[in-house]
Amino acid sequence: MPDWRFSCLLVQAAVLLLLSEGEKMCPASCRCEGKIVYCESGIFLDVPENITVSCQGLSLRYNNLLGLLPYQFAHLNQLIWLYLDHNSINTVDALAFHGVRRLKELILSSNKISHLHNNTFSAIPNLRNLDLSYNQLQFVHPGHFYGLRKLQNLHLRSNGLKQIFVRTFLECRSLEFLDLGYNRLRSLTRTTFLGLFKLKELHLEHNQFSRINFFLFPRLTNLQALYLQWNRIRSISQGEHWIWQKLLKLDLSGNDIQTVPVEAVAAWTSLTTISLAGNSWDCRPSICPLMGWLLTIRDTKDISMICSGPKRVQGERVVDAIRNHSMCPDNVTDRKTTKEPTAFTRTIFPFNPLTPTTFIPELQFEHMSFHKIIAGSVALFLSLSLILLVIYVSWRRYPNTMRQLQQHSVNHKRRKKSLKQEQDLNSQLQEYYLSYHSNSETMDSVGNEGRPCTCTISGSIECELELLFGYTTVSFQLSVSTL
Ligand SMILES: *[C@@H]1O[C@H](CO)[C@@H](O)[C@H](O)[C@H]1NC(C)=O
Ligand SMILES: *[C@@H]1O[C@H](CO)[C@@H](O)[C@H](O)[C@H]1NC(C)=O
Ligand SMILES: *[C@@H]1O[C@H](CO)[C@@H](O)[C@H](O)[C@H]1NC(C)=O
Ligand SMILES: *[C@@H]1O[C@H](CO)[C@@H](O)[C@H](O)[C@H]1NC(C)=O
Repeated sequence: MPDWRFSCLLVQAAVLLLLSEGEKMCPASCRCEGKIVYCESGIFLDVPENITVSCQGLSLRYNNLLGLLPYQFAHLNQLIWLYLDHNSINTVDALAFHGVRRLKELILSSNKISHLHNNTFSAIPNLRNLDLSYNQLQFVHPGHFYGLRKLQNLHLRSNGLKQIFVRTFLECRSLEFLDLGYNRLRSLTRTTFLGLFKLKELHLEHNQFSRINFFLFPRLTNLQALYLQWNRIRSISQGEHWIWQKLLKLDLSGNDIQTVPVEAVAAWTSLTTISLAGNSWDCRPSICPLMGWLLTIRDTKDISMICSGPKRVQGERVVDAIRNHSMCPDNVTDRKTTKEPTAFTRTIFPFNPLTPTTFIPELQFEHMSFHKIIAGSVALFLSLSLILLVIYVSWRRYPNTMRQLQQHSVNHKRRKKSLKQEQDLNSQLQEYYLSYHSNSETMDSVGNEGRPCTCTISGSIECELELLFGYTTVSFQLSVSTL
């Protein structure tokens, strides 16, 4: 009996030893922290060997990778995120991502990708965040995004895109953020955005649109922010009767707009922020409805809209031109007769392209109340209890091994080490989720309010919660691996 126990113990010790050896192995010129491998030294022409098979996060940023081969990452089937930005990748094999089904985040930005095969990403159906910005894709079509039903953020900024084929994003039914800015798009069709019912933020700035028909967007029923600045838009039309239910922010600055039709203005019922500067405003009485409407949403700060015509008011601010020349009915110029905006729901925030959606959490302050703080604290307490429970359960899973090892003082040090690694890993995973969170801060901070702490048990438990403390929104994601 003691013999049997002893040999069993030896086997267990050997397994532990092997496991910790495996964890220790780290490719030359890389930095490994638990299951996260950083190879950012700039020397790699290819994916390095000897990456631990339990790797969950791999960064190969800032190297000289030229292409991705079939099954390139298949031996790393635990991968959750993969950063390949700032390389020279120009070919991506259609099978490059086969075997990494757990992948949730794939960053391919700042490469030289000019062509994508159909179904390249259908091997990674759990993808939430795909970044293809700063590449050389001239067009996108439905085949490129087949299978990405869980995708929430898609970045296609600065690709030289000239064309988006019809129904391109039809499969991306979970998409909440789409960036098509800084491309060469001239036109959109009514089916371009078909299926994007959950889209909240759409970037179309710095393209070459010359006219915008808001008729193109009605299927985007959840859109909250639309960026159209720095195009060449001359005319805006409304097409058919449509009321934006959720749109909060609209940026039309830096275009060639002379006038906005009354119907368009009437449809912007939910808007809290609009940027109209840098256009060629035509200061005739036809501008009165727009200015009257602006009065209802703006605070006392002025909007820098300048008249480009007619000649006698050229270069004047639109508000001055209207006032000095008594162009509009009194209720448009006299602020006192219009209903003053309420403090929080009707405020124009200064336009800042770098932090496009800071306005959204602020909107919630008005409805802030004490019971939310209580609810938040309870949620925090519950999630901490959950973490403790998970740690307890995983400890219970191999209690004998641990106890026996301790008794016999075999591998005492190594055990300590592996425990430490486990802790490291947990903190790294947490770090990953936090950084992932800040990457897609935009989307996560939008509409999180109603989402309770959701936990999925598939080897790991993810927990997401958001608390509102006074005037700051604190959100964190907790992740615990059950190993
Ligand atoms: C990979 O591991 C093997 C054996 O441990 C070693 O000979 C080889 O140099 C390693 N390669 C790299 C790139 O670290
Ligand atoms: C890729 O998909 C598009 C439709 O999205 C289709 O028109 C095209 O023929 C496909 N290409 C290949 C090579 O199958
Ligand atoms: C100003 O008054 C006119 C007619 O009295 C009305 O049609 C218009 O809607 C009013 N505008 C505003 C902004 O109240
Ligand atoms: C218009 O009015 C503003 C102040 O309301 C004044 O500064 C400006 O000089 C006036 N312009 C003309 C052309 O009268």
